[in-house]
Amino acid sequence: MKVYKGEVNALPPDKSIAHRAALIGAVADGTTEISNFSGGFDNQSTLGVLKACGIAVHQEKVKGANGLISRNVVIHAQGFWSLSRPEKDLMCNNSGSTMRMFAGILAAQPFESRLVGDSSLMQRPMQRVANPLRLMGADVALSSDNTAPVAIRGTTHLRSIDYELPVPSAQVKSLVALAALHAEGESRVIETLSSRNHTELMLGLKVEALADGRSAVIIPGKTTVPAKPFHIPGDPSAACFIIALGVLSSGSEIVVRDVCLNPTRTGYMDVLAEAGAEISMENIRFTGGEKIGDVLVRHSPSMKPLSISDPAVVANIIDEIPMLAVLSACATGAFDLHNAAELRAKESDRISAVVDNLERIGFVCDEYADGFAVTGRKDVTPAGKVAIDSYDDHRIAMSFAIADRVLPMDLDISDAKVIGVSFPDFFEIIESLAT
Ligand code: S3P
Repeated sequence: MKVYKGEVNALPPDKSIAHRAALIGAVADGTTEISNFSGGFDNQSTLGVLKACGIAVHQEKVKGANGLISRNVVIHAQGFWSLSRPEKDLMCNNSGSTMRMFAGILAAQPFESRLVGDSSLMQRPMQRVANPLRLMGADVALSSDNTAPVAIRGTTHLRSIDYELPVPSAQVKSLVALAALHAEGESRVIETLSSRNHTELMLGLKVEALADGRSAVIIPGKTTVPAKPFHIPGDPSAACFIIALGVLSSGSEIVVRDVCLNPTRTGYMDVLAEAGAEISMENIRFTGGEKIGDVLVRHSPSMKPLSISDPAVVANIIDEIPMLAVLSACATGAFDLHNAAELRAKESDRISAVVDNLERIGFVCDEYADGFAVTGRKDVTPAGKVAIDSYDDHRIAMSFAIADRVLPMDLDISDAKVIGVSFPDFFEIIESLAT
């Protein structure tokens, strides 16, 4: 097995923050300059739908002083109603964030539009998008299964809303906030469990703690959003794969630079550190309201198995659960997860995708409606390569690509190009750390 050592300076820019920067730029008044935008397919899908609605988007690759290439994006808009009626369906490809959050902006437009996606996105639940937008006065039609296409007849007279999120979802919180910015009067989005708060930070929205422990995001209606620059820090949900490699590989020591360490995104590192992983955060600073720093990770031979059931924790590690499960299985032969039914509605059904693939490599699993357990490993080494099904899901493909590096067997991951959705340089970066 290889030892992984060194620095990662070119983590993909945070996917969540980049989507929001582009969407906010499209409704802002003036020119929005975004530095370090992602070339991943998902973020590019957001730029694609903005362009299809007539927004002027310029993107260029630049070489930094350190020799690294990054992307700058410039968006020109003149306030809320800068968009124009798209000539065709708006193609969001694999990006649920594009479809859901852009729906909030489209609901306020004086035209009809229709959001579509790839075969995975066309199966994901969209009622959570339609419900608040209908309450605000937009006309939203879904398929008979409450999935995309999402057909929206918008109105420039959206009503304000007091909306309690039925599922903890930063996408839904953000789409309501984006719609509510255009509405008449003040709106509130109420959360019982906190979810990532980038939209609030980027728009400078007030968040009130309610007496019963819930919190309310306050969105003033019809307020001009002045254009401002955004810098996109490294994506902690991409760093999670590199961190797992460091934790699992004997002799490894890796520093991942410039990672977004917003507390709503560091649940993965917190859970691992609590279980005995050697992870620390250094060089902490704040940019645009976001906490950023470097993550140092070392091989951690004395990790305890992970057992996760607290819904507040699950909400903050939702994208990292496939990697956490594979990591815990590889390190300890055990894992347990409850209260995570939402995982079945991601780019794939991530509960059955992880269970299926762990079983293919010999782990014994027990699947529940809202989670699963890994209870041990069969004492057999499969002959030849083991076929892993990525289920066309970038996070499943990357989780098992890490397992491939640390288990004494060869894994053959189907359709690994799906990794480009969020982490186009994944294999190059992993290889650059191998000694
Ligand atoms: C995201 C929120 C989460 C997450 C997704 C990105 C966001 O989805 O899984 O990858 O950028 O707001 P939900 O809002 O459905 O929980």
